[in-house]
Order: sequence, then structure tokens, then C-alpha cells
Amino acid sequence: MKRRHSIAAGFAVLALVGIVSTLAAERGAPPIPPAVSLSTGLLLEPPLDLSGYSRETFVAQSSSVGTNRIGKKWTRPVLPLPPHPRPGVKGLTEAEVKEYMLAVRDRFEQGEAVPVSDVGLVSTQEDVIRQPMLNHIAAFSNDVVRVYLLVQKTSTDKGWSYFSIVQDVSVTPAVDYFAEAKKSGPKLEAKSCYKCHASGPLAIHPAREDLILDAGLAAAINQHIAEQPRSRMHFPKEDPADEYGEAMAMKFCARCHSAEGDRAPLHRTHSHSIRVLVDFGYMPPNRRLKPEEVAELKAWLEKGK
Ligand code: HEC
Ligand code: HEC
Repeated sequence: MKRRHSIAAGFAVLALVGIVSTLAAERGAPPIPPAVSLSTGLLLEPPLDLSGYSRETFVAQSSSVGTNRIGKKWTRPVLPLPPHPRPGVKGLTEAEVKEYMLAVRDRFEQGEAVPVSDVGLVSTQEDVIRQPMLNHIAAFSNDVVRVYLLVQKTSTDKGWSYFSIVQDVSVTPAVDYFAEAKKSGPKLEAKSCYKCHASGPLAIHPAREDLILDAGLAAAINQHIAEQPRSRMHFPKEDPADEYGEAMAMKFCARCHSAEGDRAPLHRTHSHSIRVLVDFGYMPPNRRLKPEEVAELKAWLEKGK
């Protein structure tokens, strides 16, 4: 990543805040490898052809959210939130969760967030939407929460929508709350988010190397996401969980994605993100699957149809 400030300045920031994520940024988070399909045969549709979509168009469309709100200089990839008002809290209330969601929405609107802007890979591919999906993503935290904001539209939508994840880390395992963060008030939901978000926030993956504003910031946020504690989805009463069937047991995934692993178990409902992340070589993180493993994964995904 690009270094944004001197080591001396970095130490000053460290001394002041001592946030782990600052350390991550100082260490230089590993850059996000460019998205290149490995043609595994896992995708249901061919990779979306973005050759007609220029960086200039991306920057213009992305900036329509307000140039005062994006492309910020930064030292800390994860902005600090004020301490939680209830000291020693163990388990946030839904009302407290919603307050965090509105607070980060407000900070973004005031130009006080540090968002990374991209065209996301996962939502752009496949049968979800086959057109560029523009995202602005910002991360915040204090001792009890990790909060994420996503401001999003497709390249043809007029207005921007706001989504938020609040991860309550005052309990073990941490609990993830999801909502569209409408100004009138967030309405918690889970089912529609869970099919991509198997384990809380998703790492950022631009659809093309140049469709991002500040790759260094994205890498630092990804490191924060990869280092998060194990979490579970909060299914609100109004939006209960479905019956998700057997969890994926194949060792080459389940050694990390399982009840005992770093990330929550994967089910067939997560097929979309599984197909895209494996086909583009992001999963598993440290090696490529062997052809027989791809075949095994494909068979498992298809068994559930
Ligand atoms: C089709 C898959 C998909 C669905 C469904 C989905 N998301 Fe996401 N979401 C993503 C991807 C992919 C990213 C990372 C985008 C990128 O790479 O720029 C993301 C990012 C986010 C972020 C920013 C933090 C992070 O995870 O990186 C928030 C907040 C978020 N989503 C909230 C929601 C909420 C709330 C819902 C349900 C209402 C939802 N999402 C449904 C795919 C999805
Ligand atoms: C060495 C540990 C490890 C292995 C093995 C691994 N993953 Fe992951 N996976 C992660 C981590 C860490 C994340 C979150 C950060 C990221 O996306 O880079 C993740 C994220 C994901 C996600 C997004 C949902 C989530 O949990 O955030 C999917 C889907 C996924 N992996 C699928 C797979 C599949 C399918 C395999 C097997 C082919 C696999 N992974 C193997 C560590 C692993």
C-alpha cells in the first residue's frame, strides 16, 4: 500500500489511540490481488465484461454522492467512535444498534467518514445484477462495536442507498446486526443479507484494479475485517432464520469456515459468494484449489438445487 504519513507521525498516532487497526495500516496491509477469473466452471454466468466501463465513468458516477464525502486523506482506516454511553455493557439493545447506524450515516453525510469507493466484484457478477455496483464503504469502532457503512447504487440507479452492519463485540461470539440505514430509521433485517454475508462484514474486492479510490485504504479495511472476532448473525424476530441445512464440511474450506473456525460455517444459501470468491481465486486465501477439489465443491453446490 502507499504510505500516507511518516513513521514518526505514525508513532504519534499510535501513542494517542493505540488502535489495533492503526497498527495494521502501519504494517502495510497486503494489497488486494486483482480480480481475474480462473475459469473454474463455478460461475453460473460468464464474468461480466466491463471493458466498456472506464475509470473516468467510475470516478464521475462514484463522485455523484458528493465529492466532499469521498476520497479523503487518512491516517486511520477505522475511525474511532465515542465510548459507549453504558459502561461495562454486555450485549447491546436493538435501539443502541440503530443509534450507531444513524450516527455513521450522519458522519458520512457530513463528510466526516473515510470511505473507500469501488465497483464491487461480488455484487456485479452473476445473476444478482449484471452491471457495475458502486460502493462507498467506511469502518468505525470503539471498545464495544465495530460499525460499517455501505453507501451503494448501481450505475443506472439515481439515488444512493445506505446499509449498515453493527458488530457487537461486547459479547462472545460477537453479534452482527444488519439494516438498511434509512434516514427515517433503520429496520433490522437478516435473511436477505445473510446469503452473501455469511460471517458479518465481507472483505472488499473491486471488480477491476482501477475501479477503486484508494486501494491502500481497502487493503487496510480488509485486514480489519479478516482480524475480526468470530461472530453470528442476529436474526430479528420479524425476520427469522430459514432452515439452512447442512454446513459445508469439505476440509479445504471448513478448516476456517466452521463452528470451530475463524469464520462462521457456509451453507448452500451462500452459493453466490462462494462461486465468485473461489472462481476469482480469493478463496481459499493462500492457495488455489486442485481440479478435484473444484469438482467436489461444484458437486456440493449443485446437490442443493
Ligand atoms: C449479493 C450479495 C450481497 C447481499 C445480498 C448483501 N451484501 Fe452487503 N456487501 C456485499 C459485498 C460483496 C460487499 C463488499 C463490497 C465491495 O467489495 O466493495 C458488501 C459490503 C457491505 C457493507 C460494508 C462492510 C463490508 O461488509 O465490507 C455493509 C455495511 C453491507 N454490505 C450491508 C449489507 C446489508 C445490510 C445487506 C442486507 C440488507 C447486505 N449487505 C446484503 C454483498 C452483499
Ligand atoms: C485459511 C482460512 C480459510 C480457508 C481455508 C478458506 N477461507 Fe474463506 N474466508 C477466510 C477469511 C479470513 C475470510 C474473510 C476475509 C476475506 O474475505 O478475505 C473468508 C471469507 C469467505 C467468504 C465470504 C463470507 C465470509 O465468511 O466472510 C466466502 C463465501 C468464503 N470465504 C468461501 C470459502 C470457500 C468456498 C473456501 C474453500 C474453497 C474457503 N473460503 C476457504 C478464510 C478462509
